[in-house]
Amino acid sequence: MRVKKLKYRSKLGEMPSYDVVEREWKIKVNANECGMNLPPMVEERVMGRLSRIAFNRYPNEDLEQLMEAIAGNYGLTKENILIGNGSSEIIEKLFYAFGGKNLTVVYPQPSFSMYDIYAKAAEARSVTVELNREDYSLNIHNFVQKVNDSKAALAVVCNPNNPTGNALTLKEIEDIAEHTSCALLIDEAYVEFYGQSAASLLKKYPKLLIARTFSKAYGLAAVRCGYLLGDASVIAMVAKTFMPYHMDVLTLVTADTVFQMRDEYVPRIQQMIAERNRMSEQYASLPDFKVYPSQTNFIMVRYEKAVQLNESLTEQSIGIRSFGKAPGLENCLRISMGTREENDSVFKAVKAFVEAEA
Ligand SMILES: Cc1ncc(COP(=O)(O)O)c(C=O)c1O
Repeated sequence: MRVKKLKYRSKLGEMPSYDVVEREWKIKVNANECGMNLPPMVEERVMGRLSRIAFNRYPNEDLEQLMEAIAGNYGLTKENILIGNGSSEIIEKLFYAFGGKNLTVVYPQPSFSMYDIYAKAAEARSVTVELNREDYSLNIHNFVQKVNDSKAALAVVCNPNNPTGNALTLKEIEDIAEHTSCALLIDEAYVEFYGQSAASLLKKYPKLLIARTFSKAYGLAAVRCGYLLGDASVIAMVAKTFMPYHMDVLTLVTADTVFQMRDEYVPRIQQMIAERNRMSEQYASLPDFKVYPSQTNFIMVRYEKAVQLNESLTEQSIGIRSFGKAPGLENCLRISMGTREENDSVFKAVKAFVEAEA
């Protein structure tokens, strides 16, 4: 039976959805996940802890424990930390906290496509600053000017940027912080592959907020855990937007174990960076392929027959991300780094297509 004429919230019907089509891929390199599951020692510890959970109790000290562990790592206190279901939830709540009818959020374009959706959901006005089309660099002066001219409540910078892969220096981030007065979110989903977190600037700039995730370098995308670092007074305000007991104990215990054992991930992260550099060189050797320098676990390339190449890879059950005709990303493809074998197989398939077309 069809449901008709329900009274939905205004503009909900016009809200865009996040456009990912998922299926069983032979090789899945379309979502910037980590190609490897938990390191065996971490898995053993996680399973041990999960087997002792009191499933009948609401989350309690597990949240505090993770907050304290994260705070300690940055020389902060737990009042500076907010934990969320992925950094997605954190960013969504931030747009909500600094959104509403009369408030403006400013961010570069192209960047993480969810910012548009969060702005719409929060009923905030979004103002975008176009990245330079040649190399996707951000003109800091223009960005600062747009933030100030629009009297923004929140400015967002994804650093390194998804999907272009490039990064601002800490000096550039500091320039933005220095010359603006609104809340400034740095979305550091991929920062482990870059190595320069703006967390060091938090004490100097209390309006600075940093979103981090366990989904990428720590390979915990299934678990959904991210966190926000910021000044205690800002964190206390943003915390009001979360439901009580919003984090489940399975997530908290898993993320806490991974955080405690994060040294186990250092060689993996180095390996992923090495793979990114190796594959960037290989893709750059293909005719008519433009490879954008990346500081992340993915590579963005531009190729005139990107749409056809994506179709060919899809037929071979290789999932990459194609941006089709998205503004500023025409003919661009984003290829996440998987295992060495996966990267070689994807490259082989891409090379065969490109050579046949050349
Ligand atoms: C730039 C950026 N920020 C945030 C996220 C959200 O990640 P998660 O919710 O898994 O922490 C992603 C995921 O792809 C991302 O690319």
